[in-house]
Amino acid sequence: MSPGVASPPSTVEAFAVAEKAAEELVRRVGAAPKVAVVLGSGWRPVADALGDAEVELPMTALPGFRAPSVPGHEGTVRSLWAGGAQVVVFLGRSHLYEGRSPAEVVHAVRTAVIAGASVVVLTNAAGSLDPALGPGGVVLIRDHINLTGASPLSGDEPPAGYPSRFVDLTDLYSGRLREVSRSVDGSLAEGVYAALRGPHYETPAEIAMLRSAGAGLVGMSTALEAIAARHLGASVLGLSLVTNLAAGVSPEPLDHAEVLAAGAAAGPRLGELLVPLLPRLAGPLTGPRPA
Ligand code: HPA
Repeated sequence: MSPGVASPPSTVEAFAVAEKAAEELVRRVGAAPKVAVVLGSGWRPVADALGDAEVELPMTALPGFRAPSVPGHEGTVRSLWAGGAQVVVFLGRSHLYEGRSPAEVVHAVRTAVIAGASVVVLTNAAGSLDPALGPGGVVLIRDHINLTGASPLSGDEPPAGYPSRFVDLTDLYSGRLREVSRSVDGSLAEGVYAALRGPHYETPAEIAMLRSAGAGLVGMSTALEAIAARHLGASVLGLSLVTNLAAGVSPEPLDHAEVLAAGAAAGPRLGELLVPLLPRLAGPLTGPRPA
C-alpha cells in the first residue's frame, strides 16, 4: 500500500461501521427509514420537492461517511415523512473514481437498509447509447453490466447474521417497482446500465462495444449500491437521467459542465416523476405516522 493511502476496511469493519451509522441515523431522526433515496448528479434539485426535511445532517455526522469530493455532490442526509412512509434521502454519493473503496461507495445504502429501509431508489446521470433518447430523458434501469471490476461483497464472508456473499442478481432491479413507476409515467423507457469506473468518459470504441453487449446507458455509479442493497434483501429501483449522448453517439465532445447543466434543466420533470412515485413505492410499507 502506498504511503498516505488508507487500506480499505475489512468486510467485518465495513458492516460494523454501517451498523453504527444506522444506529446514529435512527437516533438522530427518531425513526427508522422505510425507503432510501440516493440523489445522484442531476437529481438534487428534486430534493426540496419531495417534502420538507424534518432532520438534515451533513453526511459526515454519521460514522464512516466522507464528504463527496465532486462538485455538484452535496453530501447531505435528509429525513422526511412522505406519502405515509419515513424516507431517508442522500444528497450526493461516493464513487470509485474518487479513490473510494467499494465499501465506502455502498456505505450510505448499507446504512439505510440496516436502519430499516426495504426499498432503495438509486438515481444517476447517464450517457445514452440510443441516439433517439437524448438529454432530459428518464430511463428505468432494467439490469446492469458491472464493468467496474469491483464488488461491495469482495473480501471475507460477511459477518454472522448477514446473507452469504454469493448473492443472486437475477432480478436485481425490481420488476414490481418498475411497474409501479410506469403507473406514474407510462412513457418511461427501460434500459441496461453499464457501470464503468471513470472518471474519464468512454471512447467511441468502448461505447460501440457496450451497445453490442446490450447496454443502453452508461455511467459511473449505482451498480455496486444496487448489489449491496440486494445483498441485504432490499428491493431496488434504478432511475437514470440522460444528460448526454454517449461518446461517438454524440457529434459533440463530452463536457462535465454540460452534463451537470442538462441535469439542472431536467429538475422539474424529475420532481413530477419522483414526488408521486415515492408513496406508491412505499406501497405496503405505508401506514399512519407513529406518535
Ligand atoms: N459516460 C459515463 N458516465 C456518465 C456519462 C457518460 O456519457 N454521462 C453522465 N455520466
